[in-house]
Amino acid sequence: MPTEATEKPGKAEKALHSTYPPSAEFVAQANGGPDLYGEADKDRDAFWAQQAQRLHWHKPFTEVLDWSDAPVAKWFADGKLNVAYNCVDRHVEDGYGDQVAIHWEGEPGDTRTLTYSDLLSLVSKAANYLTEIGLQPGDRVAIYMPMVPEAIASMLACARLGLTHSVVFAGFSASALRSRIDDAEAKLVITTDGQFRRGKPAPLKASVDDAIGGESPAPSVQNVLVVRRTGEEIPWQEGRDVWWHDTVERASDKHEAEAFDAEHPLFLLYTSGTTGKPKGILHTSGGYLTQASYTHNYVFDHKPGKDVYWCTADIGWVTGHTYIVYGPLSNRATQVVYEGTPNSPNEHRHFEVIEKYGVSIYYTAPTLIRTFMKWGREIPDAHDLTSLRLLGTVGEPINPEAWRWYHEVFGAGRCPIVDTWWQTETGAIMISPLPGVTDCKPGSAMAPLPGISMQIVDDDAKPVKLGETEANGYLVIDKPWPAMLRGIWGDMQRFKDTYWSRFAEQGYYFAGDGAKLDEDGAVWVLGRVDDVMNISGHRISTAEVESALVGHAAVAESAVIGATDATTGQAIVAFVILRQGVENTGDALVADLRAAVAQDIGPIAKPRDIYIVPELPKTRSGKIMRRLLRDVAEGRQLGDTSTLVDPAVVESLRGQ
Ligand code: WTA
Repeated sequence: MPTEATEKPGKAEKALHSTYPPSAEFVAQANGGPDLYGEADKDRDAFWAQQAQRLHWHKPFTEVLDWSDAPVAKWFADGKLNVAYNCVDRHVEDGYGDQVAIHWEGEPGDTRTLTYSDLLSLVSKAANYLTEIGLQPGDRVAIYMPMVPEAIASMLACARLGLTHSVVFAGFSASALRSRIDDAEAKLVITTDGQFRRGKPAPLKASVDDAIGGESPAPSVQNVLVVRRTGEEIPWQEGRDVWWHDTVERASDKHEAEAFDAEHPLFLLYTSGTTGKPKGILHTSGGYLTQASYTHNYVFDHKPGKDVYWCTADIGWVTGHTYIVYGPLSNRATQVVYEGTPNSPNEHRHFEVIEKYGVSIYYTAPTLIRTFMKWGREIPDAHDLTSLRLLGTVGEPINPEAWRWYHEVFGAGRCPIVDTWWQTETGAIMISPLPGVTDCKPGSAMAPLPGISMQIVDDDAKPVKLGETEANGYLVIDKPWPAMLRGIWGDMQRFKDTYWSRFAEQGYYFAGDGAKLDEDGAVWVLGRVDDVMNISGHRISTAEVESALVGHAAVAESAVIGATDATTGQAIVAFVILRQGVENTGDALVADLRAAVAQDIGPIAKPRDIYIVPELPKTRSGKIMRRLLRDVAEGRQLGDTSTLVDPAVVESLRGQ
């Protein structure tokens, strides 16, 4: 039965006030109850120690949290575990070897089913081969692959051997891959020959060759391990390149998992910061897996052996790490993994997949929900979606209109929606409703999870008051949490400067997001307050795109902003000044500049609009007035221009 939204008075703020309580039916079977908050508040360390019992410890820990070296935390430091054993072996040993781990759906329509026994065998083979080529615990491995089962097996094989994986999204360019390989000094790159994109094979191994071969080969890389996916011809370097089917597939499928320290590095994941250089966010093992498993269990109300879970992210992003690989597999989930785009071969694809596998938990990004809205509700309405029982979103704020559409069209009014706030740096979900407990408000992530302590503070670190929605609030985390990052690879100073200097006196982690608290204490995340843009839930820094543009021979200077976009949340808009003597060829030049950005970063970073301007609006101190550029990009009246050094610039911008 659809749950009625309870409307409180106050017409203008109606959207803010309507709440959606869970149905009695859902409450009765929910994994989490209201007592979780109380338990966590009573003794946070004891609470997390208890959550850590969700895992198998080869050597139990005696110490929960060591914060003496803040801001670098140690969780469960004297315990030992094997992350892959926790995600695979133990389920097989417990008698669930025949349970499906992965229903894999390839983009062209081919499928594979992997049980937990199949996954164990694949991971063991890969582990044996990676050992055979001499990789040692602590070595780094770059993974540059589309969503094929071998990508997940590769991550788990690394985890099993104590190798640190660095997954690079397969949509990133060769040069983006190269800088990540160099920074991590990866010894091995695992890739595929190509990937399917909208029905066509596209090369991938060729990008690896562009990245690490040629005139200045990447010094750290010893081997490239290639999975055959599309069957296209590929470049090949004897001695360096090996086929997965000639090596891994022929290795023994028996491998004994060895235990590693809880603080052993598990992975690096590069993410955009406010400067051009991506940061290698470092995560470790025991605390990360504890929070991944805990949040996946309670936030998604996951029931092993019953639910069919589908997270639509890509393993190239943190959501894929925590909610495709480590969270669900540690909880013995049966999940769908889909290789392709939502409109391949047509807009029915996701709904067909939900129907085909009986997906019960569906976790996606608001941008995709808005795209589905645009395609029209007759598409989902043509399918039986009654298997769904819980819906989730991640990556950006969800507008109440999209929330309601999701609730009604996907969930027929009966499924709780969990709007989950977190970051690459936090490792796992931090703010979210607890389904079965929280009355949800469309557009609000509601409250920090049990065990997580956060505040919204003003410029002076004072907590903002309830209902003080006009205040400039910043989201901060005031107590360490198990899945928190342990640093930026190779740059601990940058780690301290980026996250811990803004509220150094208080010792708060500054997330970089603005937020407010409504009169009921619900958290409303407003988006980034720094120069990081959020495009379809992907983080891209303005500086990165500016540097890609300035790298083009025609460009003297550029300024990039994130403009509001109805579908993608934000869209990249660039303003460029040409070098002297360069002719403005209009559309041809713009196309060329967009291609340059795709080449330097990847197609996701291509600006939606590029304006070629004679000058950029600057203050007397030389700062670019981004606010004015945003006004232009969003088609508004230009705001206050009194601090401009040259008011005539405004005229030229208006001309755009
Ligand atoms: C944004 C993705 C509002 C936020 C897991 C954060 C959100 C950045 C939400 C992290 C949400 C993520 N509501 N904003 N539910 N979830 N964000 O590292 O700005 O790719 O700082 O991690 O996404 O992006 P990242």
